[in-house]
Amino acid sequence: MKTVELGRTGEQVSQLALGAMIMGTSTDEPTSVEMLDRFLDAGGNFIDTANCYCWWAREGSLGGESEELLGRWLPGRRDRVFLATKGSAMVWDSDGLWRDGQSGPDWALARSRFEGTGAATLTKAIDDSLRRLRTDHVDLYYVHVDSRRTPLEETLEALAGIVAAGKARYIGWSNVRTWRLERIRQLCAANGWPAPVALQQQHTYLRPKAGLDSASIVDDEQLDYLREHDDLSLVAYSPILKGVYDSADKRAGHWAMDSYQGPDAQARLAAVAAVAGEVGATPNQVVLAWLLRSSPTMIPLVGPRTLEQYETAHAALDVVLSDEQAARLDAAGA
Ligand SMILES: NC(=O)c1ccc[n+]([C@@H]2O[C@H](COP(=O)([O-])OP(=O)(O)OC[C@H]3O[C@@H](n4cnc5c(N)ncnc54)[C@H](OP(=O)(O)O)[C@@H]3O)[C@@H](O)[C@H]2O)c1
Repeated sequence: MKTVELGRTGEQVSQLALGAMIMGTSTDEPTSVEMLDRFLDAGGNFIDTANCYCWWAREGSLGGESEELLGRWLPGRRDRVFLATKGSAMVWDSDGLWRDGQSGPDWALARSRFEGTGAATLTKAIDDSLRRLRTDHVDLYYVHVDSRRTPLEETLEALAGIVAAGKARYIGWSNVRTWRLERIRQLCAANGWPAPVALQQQHTYLRPKAGLDSASIVDDEQLDYLREHDDLSLVAYSPILKGVYDSADKRAGHWAMDSYQGPDAQARLAAVAAVAGEVGATPNQVVLAWLLRSSPTMIPLVGPRTLEQYETAHAALDVVLSDEQAARLDAAGA
């Protein structure tokens, strides 16, 4: 697997990152371990988790299952892995999050209970993550969900302390607006604190619909910002939007589509399907191949549930798009 430099750190990470969000819950342990081993054997090293993964998979859970599974898998492999985890989105109380008769938790209530980015919270959260992961450091520690409840100075000073203590080598930010990112970087520069080297946002081929108000989904301004700041790498989560590109049935009514139902959506889906037919790949694979050759350089972060899904994502690295096909995909729905 090819590697790319993370920001301008000199660190080489695999061009495809593997998300462990549902490992230990929706994906059982033997399947997860096999997937992790295959990824490592194929030259992958960039593995992503978070302290809160994956509380919403099971009523009563507060998360930690993914980190614990990785902690059981990592011994003997730790030096081959560029390990990322996150803090700030753990819920501090699961009481009442699940309502009778509903298929999922109450996300609005959950968000109001995120632990947040206070200094004491993050300082404890990283220690808890390291204990579950059975390692003395992570390579990358993200603020999972940007929060305005705590002054940035407090959060950044705490993160600087975590880096100084050797518990994280680099920091990153996720689910954050561009203007906040700029403010974060300015504060880091002014105070000598380590600046984020990775930005983890939702990003795919479909374009967010007009008027969408989201701190999580990359927009044109954020892409432009990233092109100007190559010391910050985009880690693109949900790159295939939960696999909706392959199937109209899966797309119909899927919540992952809600933010992308703009007037250009059908044209873009048609373009992906056409190119997939031409290159003999699936639409999901074409989307990954397109992201891999997009500007700015980005690292798609996939979250396969099964080994078959993992193999499909891995095989996307071999899908070659011609310049004409890439240009057609870029232009679709413009
Ligand atoms: N920073 C954040 O806030 C944030 C948010 C979300 C995720 N993440 C990270 O990003 C990683 C990836 O995110 P994601 O899981 O949303 O990414 P994704 O790869 O877009 O979606 C994964 C889901 O897509 C389906 N799928 C995968 N391959 C498929 C295929 N070939 N055909 C059909 N369906 C397929 C599976 O769901 P089915 O059950 O339908 O098969 C799978 O669970 C996570 O593991 C996590 O580490 C971060």
